[in-house]
Amino acid sequence: MTDNEHEIEQPEERVPKRVIGTPGPGTSMLGTAEAADVAAEVPGVTLQDEAKARRAEKVVALCFTITFLAGLAFIVSYVVFQVGSPEATGTSNLALGGSLTIAILGLAAGIVIWVRQIMPKYSLVQERHAMASDEPDREVVADTFVQGANESGFVKRKLLRRTLLLAAAPLGLAPVVLLRDLDNSKMPGAAFNKSLRHTVWGEKNKEGKPLKLVVEGTGQPIRAADFNSPGGILSVVPEGYEHDLTALAKATLILIKFRPEEIKSGVKQNWTHDGIVAYSKICTHVGCPAALYEQNTHHILCPCHQSTFDAADGAKVIFGPAARPLPQLPITVDEQGYLIAQRDFDVPVGPSYWERGDAEAEAREGGQA
Ligand code: FES
Repeated sequence: MTDNEHEIEQPEERVPKRVIGTPGPGTSMLGTAEAADVAAEVPGVTLQDEAKARRAEKVVALCFTITFLAGLAFIVSYVVFQVGSPEATGTSNLALGGSLTIAILGLAAGIVIWVRQIMPKYSLVQERHAMASDEPDREVVADTFVQGANESGFVKRKLLRRTLLLAAAPLGLAPVVLLRDLDNSKMPGAAFNKSLRHTVWGEKNKEGKPLKLVVEGTGQPIRAADFNSPGGILSVVPEGYEHDLTALAKATLILIKFRPEEIKSGVKQNWTHDGIVAYSKICTHVGCPAALYEQNTHHILCPCHQSTFDAADGAKVIFGPAARPLPQLPITVDEQGYLIAQRDFDVPVGPSYWERGDAEAEAREGGQA
């Protein structure tokens, strides 16, 4: 063995010795006629047909030549196609991306063909050893286990053993209890689930009156007559819950003012007041705040995954992964002209998990009827 060769020890009867590194002068590698004779006698090694290998060699050389030319084209493109305008940038990106893609593809194809059609094929067999430990080792483990059990007093001290089993029992039951949260609210006792279905908009204020809509951040109640420019949008929360993050997670609204002729059939007209419509701000996809509004198209956009809702048509989904409209809140005005909630949402707010729950419950009820 020369200085720059490193042998890997392998059983001689199964595979030939493999040599890694540059062969020294006078040495040979597999693929030469002499090595082929040797390798052909070794079980598990199949040499490629020489004529086929020569054809593959030409293909590989062609691939590498294409890679070379594409690499040059990449460099030339970088120099020639200067950016500066959107069109020039597009041309430059196309030239750079195209040439680099061809270069990498050519290289990858060449290497794959080289390995599969020129190099010899090995069938390597690795023998399995018995999985079980020796008998003496197993005896030691068994003795150690029994000794540990005796020393712990688990068998002897009944009180400890029984209280330990007692302590573990509720932990075993915990996953079963958690399954209750998968329940539908129409099942008896699913109070927790029910609380997720409702928002504080169904509650009353200290005077026993419906909750006012107030501006998020300032807490100012909104007089309908003051919110009078069509296209306007406000982020709104319920009076008295301005800092209650749990309530706001479900109850935050967007309020939009329309011209009467802009409102389409999807909007429940008797839930609006003078062209003012209130929708849940919680996206029905996975619950991000959907509050980007495009005045000209009446589109509400959720920035998380680009669900788009038509505010003029009941916040119907017109694009993106959301599966149902943003729920509309019924609103009206009190005797002083402030916007108030008529009652809670008719449908749950937030991710579309609810829709599936409702559909399943309805199907069940339909089946029972
Ligand atoms: S949360 Fe709104 S689109 Fe995904």
